[in-house]
Amino acid sequence: MSQTFETKIVHSSLQETNKIRSKTTPIYQTSAFTFDTLEDLEGFYHGETPYLYSRSGNPNTDELGQMVAELEEAPAGVATSSGLSAILTGILSVVSVGEHIVAADDIYGGTYHMLKEELKELGIETTFVSFADSQAIQGAIQDNTKLLYSETVTNPFLRVENIDELVNIRKKYHLNTMVDNTFATPYLLKPFEKGIDIVAHSATKYLGGHSDVTAGVIVGREDLMVKARQKVVNLGSNLSSFEAWLTCRGIKTLALRMERQVKNAQQLAETLKNNINVKAVYYPITLSEKGNGAIVTIELQPECNIHRFFSSLGWIKIVPTLAGVETTVSYPLGTSHRALSEEEQQNIGINKQVVRISVGIEASADIINQFEAAIKGSIS
Ligand SMILES: Cc1ncc(COP(=O)(O)O)c(C=O)c1O
Repeated sequence: MSQTFETKIVHSSLQETNKIRSKTTPIYQTSAFTFDTLEDLEGFYHGETPYLYSRSGNPNTDELGQMVAELEEAPAGVATSSGLSAILTGILSVVSVGEHIVAADDIYGGTYHMLKEELKELGIETTFVSFADSQAIQGAIQDNTKLLYSETVTNPFLRVENIDELVNIRKKYHLNTMVDNTFATPYLLKPFEKGIDIVAHSATKYLGGHSDVTAGVIVGREDLMVKARQKVVNLGSNLSSFEAWLTCRGIKTLALRMERQVKNAQQLAETLKNNINVKAVYYPITLSEKGNGAIVTIELQPECNIHRFFSSLGWIKIVPTLAGVETTVSYPLGTSHRALSEEEQQNIGINKQVVRISVGIEASADIINQFEAAIKGSIS
């Protein structure tokens, strides 16, 4: 019988094969698996037993890959040591030396840097263009282009990617597509269903949900996930079993957390739109029928002193990340986008008054009151 998202999310796939019948999946905290005979060992290489060595496969990391694949309605998934390694693994499953990527110019700063510097040094070139402009994307495609790369919701200005248009361009030019779905999560969007080839997650964020793991996952086309798994094994970018287990535990409450966080974010965005000291509020309006995400980005008016704003936030802490159950703030100019040149920062709208808010599960009125107090406190 088919299950809805909210049911699927709490029934992980390993439970059925767990013969001891523990209610939760055990943590397979082992670097390797044992064999009694050389025939048994040989059996591993013929697919008769699933595990040999944890870098090349572990029940907990497999559970995480499968769980996210099921939620994204994709055939397969692979867990990795971080969101960035998930993105790298996905890219290397599609693109080789001498080939080319077209990427959105407003993606997460760490991914931008990886494409612009690290992959360039390895012989993979990227052209960055505005993905709001379909002609610009098509104009950047070269004979050796293999991949279109973007994010379903960009950071920090929350532009919602036009997935249908990306898929049209993919078909027209016979390319592959990859999107980072970290901000939306499969609770709000499932890009694989719409025709995207690889979907990446920083599971460090909403999937884990409690700011206690660093992890990544990619899901997508079966043939690409076979390659991705080989990359993880050969490059050593596997996730530890304990972090995979924690992430699976976190995922079970994803729907509940997102429901509450999205509602709180919507209310905060609406309130801040009416605050005369807030110059702009960035919050999507049509992300999905389940809501518009739990991140709100604001630009304070020039009269607001940004240092006073941050130090007037009381229980709301400054962090260089997002998506925990607690409401937090980050400063893109000082963290995620600090490696960009001033011109690159200006091009995408990052300036010293921009603040990204990750809205948590607290009482909505408390969140709103604390932000209004901090904005008031920032006026000289
Ligand atoms: C949208 C997005 N993708 C990827 C990453 C990288 O993830 P990780 O820090 O888990 O490597 C981040 C980190 O902030 C992010 O915000």
